[in-house]
Amino acid sequence: MKKILFVASEAVPFIKTGGLADVVGSLPKCIDKRYFDVRVIMPKYVCIKQQWKDIMEYKTHFYMDYHWKKEYVGIFEAVVEGVTYYFIDNETMFNGMKPYSDNAYEDIVKFAFFSKAALSILPVIDFKPDVVHCHDWQTGLIPVYLKERFQGGEFYQNIKTVMTIHNLKFQGKWDVKTIEEITGLPQYFFTPDKLEAYKDANLLKGGLVYADAITTVSDTYAEEIKTDFYGEGLNGLLQARSKDLRGIVNGIDYEEYNPENDKLIANRYNAVNFRKEKIKNKRALQAELGLEQNDKKFMIGLVSRLTDQKGLDLVSYVMDELCMDDIQIVVLGTGSEKYENMFRHFDWKYNGKVSANIYYSEEVSHKIYAACDAFLMPSLFEPCGLSQLMSLRYGTVPIVRETGGLKDTVEPYNEYESTGTGFSFTNYNAHEMMAAIRYAEKVYYEKKREWNKIIDRAMAADFSWNVSAAKYQEMYDWLIG
Ligand code: ADP
Ligand code: GLC
Repeated sequence: MKKILFVASEAVPFIKTGGLADVVGSLPKCIDKRYFDVRVIMPKYVCIKQQWKDIMEYKTHFYMDYHWKKEYVGIFEAVVEGVTYYFIDNETMFNGMKPYSDNAYEDIVKFAFFSKAALSILPVIDFKPDVVHCHDWQTGLIPVYLKERFQGGEFYQNIKTVMTIHNLKFQGKWDVKTIEEITGLPQYFFTPDKLEAYKDANLLKGGLVYADAITTVSDTYAEEIKTDFYGEGLNGLLQARSKDLRGIVNGIDYEEYNPENDKLIANRYNAVNFRKEKIKNKRALQAELGLEQNDKKFMIGLVSRLTDQKGLDLVSYVMDELCMDDIQIVVLGTGSEKYENMFRHFDWKYNGKVSANIYYSEEVSHKIYAACDAFLMPSLFEPCGLSQLMSLRYGTVPIVRETGGLKDTVEPYNEYESTGTGFSFTNYNAHEMMAAIRYAEKVYYEKKREWNKIIDRAMAADFSWNVSAAKYQEMYDWLIG
C-alpha cells in the first residue's frame, strides 16, 4: 500500500474559502483505495463549525520548537467518507473568524507553524508517507524542511514531495530576516536560487525549488505560468523546472454536485428531463430573491470570490449596458469592497432585474447553478475554475474568457457544426465579453432547440475525478518508483 499525505490549508466539509477546499475534500476520496492510503492534514481553525469539531477526536499533543518558543501542537482525527483527516490544534495560531487574515505576516507565522507541525506529527501518528502532496504557498515550506532538518532522522528519509499550484498569485512573501527567524532555516536557504525572490523570502518559491514534482490544475495554466503575464515573477523558475511541471485538470465531486439528487435545490432534474424540470428552479429562485417572475427571462448567474482575478472590472464596465438587455443577473459572492458595493448598487438601480447576494452560502450557490440559464466567468486568470464545471453539470451554460482551466473545460459553441458546451471570448476586453453574452442571448431567445442541445452536451461532459485522479496516481507511482 502506497502512502500519500495531503497537506492543505482548507478542505470541504470542514472549511472552505474557494476551490482549493473542494479539491482537497474530493480528490482523496477518488484515489484508488486498493493501492493508496491517502490521508489529509489541515489546521484546526477556531472558526470551523461546531458540527465538524464534534466529529474530531483528540489524539495527543506535544510541544514543538518554533520561532524562539515551544509551541503547543495538538492532534485531532476524523474520518469522512473513508478518508482520514488529522487536524493540527493551536488556538493562538488558528484563531480568527476566517482561515486567512488580512495581515500577510500573521498568515506566514501561522502556516510556517502549520508546515513544520504537519511534518512533526508524522512519527507520532505513525504514518510515514511515500509522497507528501503540498497545496499552495501555505505548505511551500514542507519540501524545504524535508530537505533540511527533518533529514536528520531516519523516519524522514526518502519521502517524495509534490507541490500543486492552485493559484500562483499568492506566494507568502516577507523580508528575509524575519522569515529566517520564523522558520529557523539557516541563511544558506535565502539566496535567489532557493527561497529568495526579488529580495524577499518566498515560501511558495521554496516549495517549487525543492519539490520533486510540480503540478497545477489545468494544462493551459501550466503553460501560461511560464510566461511574464501569468508567471507572477516565478515564470523563470517554472521554465527551468518545466520538465517536472504538469497540468492535471480538476474534477468536481459528482455526488455532491448532482442535479438529480441535490437536496439543496427546489426541483431535481437530469439530462433527460431538464427541458421541463430545470425551469422550476428558476421560478423558485426568482420568487426567493424578489426578481420578476418570468419563465422566459434569460437568467445569468455569477458565484465567485469578488476579486480582480475574476474579471469583475469588465462586468462593472458594461453593467449598465447589460441591464438594458432582456435579462436577469444573480450574483453570489464576497470579497473586495469595490465589487461588493458595485453589485449592491446595481441591485438597487435595477431592482427586480439584478439580485446581489453579498454573503457566502453553499445552499444559494447550488440554487444558482440549478436555476440559471447561463453562468458568467470572465476571469483575468483562472488556474482551473470549478464554478464552470458545476454549471456544466447543472446544464447552466458557461460564458467564459478563454484562459487557464476555463479554456480547457468549456468548448465554445459552433453553430455550423452544432458543437460546444458554452460561449467564450479571447481578449480581456469588456466589449468582447458583451459580444459573447449577446451571442448567448440570441441563441437562447431565437434558437431554443439549439440552446437545449448545448445543454445536452454540457450535461454529458464528464468532469468527475475519474480521469484526473488516475493521472495523480500515475504521478505518485512514478515518484515512488
Ligand atoms: P476560486 O477557487 O478561485 O475561488 P473556483 O471556481 O475554483 O474559484 O472555486 C470556487 C468555489 O467556491 C466554488 O465551489 C463556488 O461555488 C464557491 N463559492 C465562491 N463564492 C461563494 C459564495 N459566496 N457562496 C458559496 N459558494 C461560493
Ligand atoms: C484556485 C484557483 C481556481 C482553482 C482552485 C482549485 O483557487 O483560483 O481556479 O479551480 O484553486 O484548484
